[in-house]
Amino acid sequence: MNILVTGGAGYIGSHTCVALLEAGYSVIVADNFCNSQAETLEQVQQITNKDITFYQIDVTEEDSVESIFFNHDIDGVIHFSGLKAVGESVEKPLDYYQNNIVSTLILSKVCQKYGVRRFVFSSSATVYGENEVPFVETMNLLPTTNPYGETKAMSERILTDTAKANSTFSVSLLRYFNPVGAHESGLIGESPNGVPNNLMPYVTQVAQGKLEKLRVFGNDYPTIDGTGVRDYIHVMDLAEGHVAALENLKEGVNIYNLGTGRGTSVLELVHAFEEANGVEVPYEIVDRRPGDIASCYADVSKAKEELGWVARRDIVDMCRDAWRFERKYEVESLF
Ligand code: WQD
Repeated sequence: MNILVTGGAGYIGSHTCVALLEAGYSVIVADNFCNSQAETLEQVQQITNKDITFYQIDVTEEDSVESIFFNHDIDGVIHFSGLKAVGESVEKPLDYYQNNIVSTLILSKVCQKYGVRRFVFSSSATVYGENEVPFVETMNLLPTTNPYGETKAMSERILTDTAKANSTFSVSLLRYFNPVGAHESGLIGESPNGVPNNLMPYVTQVAQGKLEKLRVFGNDYPTIDGTGVRDYIHVMDLAEGHVAALENLKEGVNIYNLGTGRGTSVLELVHAFEEANGVEVPYEIVDRRPGDIASCYADVSKAKEELGWVARRDIVDMCRDAWRFERKYEVESLF
């Protein structure tokens, strides 16, 4: 089967392409490389020893999107592409609504036109807003604290209503928790532009000496040690979750949490990283970051029961694989 992966050169997209190729799917990538590199797709092909067809296009341009469906027999779509920085979305809401909503609208329309019946969407735990943890798929969604989260909730609504109106269109909405780590080869991983917003890439850069120390955003939350608790999931577990969702797609709308079901605090992750890699991560406690919630972790029973999928890798695997990828640049800089 031919699967169109939008944003397939990105962090989660590239790892999902590895899992798809290894599961025997043919992969077609559409990416505008605004937050990724074409070289990543070369690495994916090196890892899997399989070819990828890719188009450098913007999936908010309907003609460009339609040309792919016209030239290829697309059996399913996995839609990753979009802007994803929570803080940036507060500063540039129109960029986020334009990119994240228009891309979903266009892909949904073109799928209807070409009779594509399978659609997997990259959603986020952010849509739960200030619900009580652990987050469950049946919860009513609450307003999020940022336009990024709103674009994910709105895209879920667009896809839900499209599936309700078209009985042959099956949708899987995958709500990610906190993806971290890298493929064990160390060839692909998370390489944010500029100073990282997210915790793990910041930790790896402090350990590497690129950044002086980690600022821990608050230690006065009602959590095990006062620092923020999140459900960190290895990016390859997340990637394998997409293959499981594709292979178990039922008619209508299917919603799944993709997490481990375990919460880890900032300081627990820092200490796990230091122990797993034999490095030091200096840090300083500073004020809370606006918009952060105390705890976020998943109830993962539905994905286990319906997809037969559970996250297999633990926090040590995540720390070791993230560190290996970070050092890849160190090795490359020696030559
Ligand atoms: C994790 C914890 C911070 C950086 C975001 C998006 C979410 C998803 C994942 C796209 C928090 C603390 C962080 C730092 C710190 N993105 N922290 N110092 O905010 O849980 O989730 O990324 O889908 O939608 O909201 O991830 O890694 O930024 O923060 O103390 O320098 O680490 O306060 O408790 P977050 P994060």
